[in-house]
Amino acid sequence: MILIGFMGSGKTTIAEYLAEELNLRYIDIDDEIIKRYNTSISEIFAAKGESGFREKEYEVLKDLLKEDAIISTGGGVITYPPSLKLLQEQVKHKVFYLEAPFHILYDRIKGDNTRPLASQGEQKVKVLYDSRLSFYEEASDHIIDTVQTVEKTIEDILNHHKF
Ligand code: S3P
Repeated sequence: MILIGFMGSGKTTIAEYLAEELNLRYIDIDDEIIKRYNTSISEIFAAKGESGFREKEYEVLKDLLKEDAIISTGGGVITYPPSLKLLQEQVKHKVFYLEAPFHILYDRIKGDNTRPLASQGEQKVKVLYDSRLSFYEEASDHIIDTVQTVEKTIEDILNHHKF
């Protein structure tokens, strides 16, 4: 199972719960990038730009898609065409898009200095959000509303997962 969605949509939290529930390993692509390249996300953006980060994200995603696990992705994974293609063409996992309106997400992520793209001012983050919506839809098998309790969100995902 793969979780996608904008920054602040709860991918990490939900993935941890699901992993526990389904007795599977939990993998976070950002954490794996940090481990593999022994650096932080902000440092990669500073040194190699967003495009350098997307290339690394793609490599890690490609390797980890082979795993039987709950995989949580970074919010921008769908903006890099090779990564989007990987998500669309793989058959091992169902892809769940965790959806929430912009103002809720922005409240959660504003001022977070570990997320380089969240600290560029509300207008720019909103433009980013709008530009990504159709890609999340394109990449996903199911769209899950997250403006509800975590328990209900998980229940909705598990209902789709059974079939
Ligand atoms: C990004 C989201 C982040 C991280 C990086 C870029 C994005 O992950 O991959 O800062 O482009 O939206 P989260 O969605 O887990 O915050």
